[in-house]
Amino acid sequence: MKVINVDPLNPDPVAIGEAAEVILRGGTVAFPTETVYGIGANALDDDACRRIYLAKGRQQDNPIIVHISDLKQLEEISYGLPRGTEEKFMKIWPGPLTVILKKRNIGDVPTAGLGTVAVRMPAHPVPLSLIERSGIPIAAPSANKSGRPSPVIASEVIEDIGENVDLILDGGPSFFGVESTVIMFRDDDIVILRPGAFTAEDLRDIFRMKIVVSSSTDGSPISPGMKYRHYAPEKELILGLSFESIERMCSEKGTVFIGSEETARMLNCPSIILGSRKDLYGIAKNLFTSFRKLDRSDYRRGVIEGFEERGIGLAIMNRIRKATGGKTA
Ligand code: TXA
Ligand code: MG
Repeated sequence: MKVINVDPLNPDPVAIGEAAEVILRGGTVAFPTETVYGIGANALDDDACRRIYLAKGRQQDNPIIVHISDLKQLEEISYGLPRGTEEKFMKIWPGPLTVILKKRNIGDVPTAGLGTVAVRMPAHPVPLSLIERSGIPIAAPSANKSGRPSPVIASEVIEDIGENVDLILDGGPSFFGVESTVIMFRDDDIVILRPGAFTAEDLRDIFRMKIVVSSSTDGSPISPGMKYRHYAPEKELILGLSFESIERMCSEKGTVFIGSEETARMLNCPSIILGSRKDLYGIAKNLFTSFRKLDRSDYRRGVIEGFEERGIGLAIMNRIRKATGGKTA
């Protein structure tokens, strides 16, 4: 493993060139995106993509998002965007939105043998210039060990899979801290398979279509990744449903509160602060790192508070529910 520091907004072409060489000879490169860090490989090379699954310990039936830097690449690996949506996508892309499309000319490893491919154009100069320089689409899931919270800084990548990746581009913290929103088009609706950094409200405003949020508990996951335990700390994590129940749990020894500074001020117990309730983007940015802090701490369990499921709050609550495994009190 080698780590190269890069300026996130203006990455050094020499560093990008070195990373592109690793990609083109079938290796793996971890890099920041605007959402979380990813571990990437040549999407057109099944052997290279297999290395990603090995590095993460990821299940073979969980397909990987393919990152592109222009629409020409999208046409090469899929039958294209739904008719009439191209302009709308170009309002959003580059950005934290992933769309499921009918695939073509792309192998069964990144797509896990499905007939579809997940595509996104990331809004981060590091992956964008890496894709451009390599001249090929890059398959990249989040760069965590499978099941762990997604990494938002390079040291978290190193902690999880540092030994298993050829090169890490350290470009500082990711901007959002939660993954992209994954959507598919179904009849006249847009189905959100995974809420993420791009909000449902913005989707509705741009596409002027009905937005349906798919429940990952309906027993028929369209997005294979949704069936696995995810984003989870190793310690017990409980979603506190009221201030009183949070206060009661926190009064027990070995318990730490995770949440807003506003709630922490009203409690008299140890806390891991996510930020102010008034800034849900700030909360999102600190969420995954707080799970890792819980694991490193001496506390036996964490109690986390809930947030309003509006805007980025929908993604925040989705990740909290997954991290708690549905445990509430
Ligand atoms: O923000 C992000 O999306 C980050 C950065 C690195 O781009 N990537 C990421 O990838 O979160 P990953 O692999 O951790 O999550 C991809 C999700 C999984 O739930 C997977 O099952 C789903 O997208 N997915 C991928 N291909 C799919 C397909 N063809 N059909 C349905 N779901 C798919
Ligand atoms: Mg992931």
